[in-house]
Amino acid sequence: MIAPWARFTEVNGWPPVSTDPFLVQGHTETPPYAVVRVSPASTDTYVSLVSDTVVAAGTVVVMRHQSRDGKVLGRSFVMTKAEDGWSYLALSPEGVPVTIDQQLCAGCHATAVGDSLFGPPRAKAAARE
Ligand code: HEC
Repeated sequence: MIAPWARFTEVNGWPPVSTDPFLVQGHTETPPYAVVRVSPASTDTYVSLVSDTVVAAGTVVVMRHQSRDGKVLGRSFVMTKAEDGWSYLALSPEGVPVTIDQQLCAGCHATAVGDSLFGPPRAKAAARE
């Protein structure tokens, strides 16, 4: 059996950045909801992401796909920041690394809001009268 990613247990111990799972728009994963967890030192930076945000080296962002009720877990997508930029990783529901095309991840994330991150779902603006 292939061992899970060494930090799988650790990252799943971090509190999710949003209280409810949200419907994923950027990844065609099943189940289609997800929660995001960020390494504690960078959580505040992530939740207030703007276009000129630069997160610190060592930051880890994990998006775990799941059903809305959390009963069915899907793959986790992981971004890890080093001094020379981001690396991308995907894990099976059990946390085992799976083969992905990092260029595909990086290419789409290059169009993100700030520092290759899309950030948490934004609240919809209130409708105007
Ligand atoms: C076609 C565009 C696209 C591709 C390809 C893509 N992503 Fe994403 N990703 C998104 C979008 C959009 C979000 C924001 C959440 C959402 O889906 O609504 C996101 C969110 C994330 C997040 C949460 C951090 C953030 O940006 O706020 C992680 C981690 C992540 N993706 C990892 C990956 C990995 C790993 C891959 C490659 C296996 C990948 N992504 C491929 C579009 C993409």
